Amino acid sequence: MHKSAYSVAVVGATGLVGTEIVTALGQRRFPIADLQLYASIRSAGDELQCGDVRAPVELLERARFDGTDLVFFAAGEHVSAEWIERATAAGAVVIDISPLCAADPDVPLVVPEVNAAELSGYTTRGIVASPDAPAIALAVALKPLADAAGLVRVVCSTFEPVCGAGRRGIEELQRQTIELMNGRSTNNEVFPHRIAFNILPHVGEFLAGGFARGEVHIVTGVRRLLADPALPVSVTCTRLPVFYGEALAVNVETARKLTATEARNILRVAPGVLLQDDLETGSYPTAADAVGQDATLVGRIREDESLNVLDFWLALDTLRKGAAVNAVQIAEVLIREYL
Ligand SMILES: NC(=O)c1ccc[n+]([C@@H]2O[C@H](COP(=O)([O-])OP(=O)(O)OC[C@H]3O[C@@H](n4cnc5c(N)ncnc54)[C@H](OP(=O)(O)O)[C@@H]3O)[C@@H](O)[C@H]2O)c1
Repeated sequence: MHKSAYSVAVVGATGLVGTEIVTALGQRRFPIADLQLYASIRSAGDELQCGDVRAPVELLERARFDGTDLVFFAAGEHVSAEWIERATAAGAVVIDISPLCAADPDVPLVVPEVNAAELSGYTTRGIVASPDAPAIALAVALKPLADAAGLVRVVCSTFEPVCGAGRRGIEELQRQTIELMNGRSTNNEVFPHRIAFNILPHVGEFLAGGFARGEVHIVTGVRRLLADPALPVSVTCTRLPVFYGEALAVNVETARKLTATEARNILRVAPGVLLQDDLETGSYPTAADAVGQDATLVGRIREDESLNVLDFWLALDTLRKGAAVNAVQIAEVLIREYL
């Protein structure tokens, strides 16, 4: 028996992703009976607007989650690790936007356009994970190509904005840019090197084998989302001095030959994809074009010289489809099918 409206909580409601979740819930008219917003002492007492409702931000320590149907966790991995089980123990279903559970086989990792059926597995732990932004973009674009021609190998470079490091990432790029433009020296607090007027060749700390954490998350995420655990996926993540919006350069080998025209025709009608690919008019998506959009933008599709290989370019709003909107879409399927 479906409810007509749900009790919803957002943990980390005042952060970059949390505020987008609150905005998306209002914009998409999610049926909310009661909205609880949580943050740290820094923002407790603020108020946020969600559609027609204005709700206060409370201290997370006050949260009990009794009678709460859905809790979005957007306060980082440590807060998720400490609080998720309290929410599920109180009977809430958790949608976690942090990477904490993304590799846990007992937690479905979901992009609704790609693998909505996996959501049925939420009952095991009461948790659904929303993937990293680049894994979302890749899965949305690769799923229809995989269905049409099978995937043999994926190679990808990401061009990621500072918003991926949260509010502090935005502040560091602002501060360094102002200091350098005024001829002053600058220091780094969030990123390991200067980010202003620079490009860094990794996202996240280095792990075994020299891979960066962001790269490992993407490989794990894409394999899980496409239900292809052995798919060879090779990723290089880069961080750019861009505030919002990201892009990916993708090279994909398919089992059966796909021409660029065939790939265009497939992607033009694929769920969650907006094709922007016209050489004659010079039309292709940029990271800035993607900001404010909920689709994954695809362009510059071309046939590589190698057999059965395509190159293309993706752009995505990191905070919307790359985080908040994907999480709200998960919630929409949960209430439509399960809650
Ligand atoms: N930013 C992105 O592009 C992006 C994309 C995909 C996924 N994610 C994931 O989304 C999560 C949130 O990232 P974000 O970029 O939104 O971070 P953010 O801008 O730094 O915001 C963090 C939020 O968490 C709250 N918070 C932090 N520590 C807390 C604590 N101990 N108790 C209660 N609240 C606490 C903050 O509250 P105050 O306002 O009180 O400080 C703020 O609301 C992360 O797990 C990140 O990996 C981010």
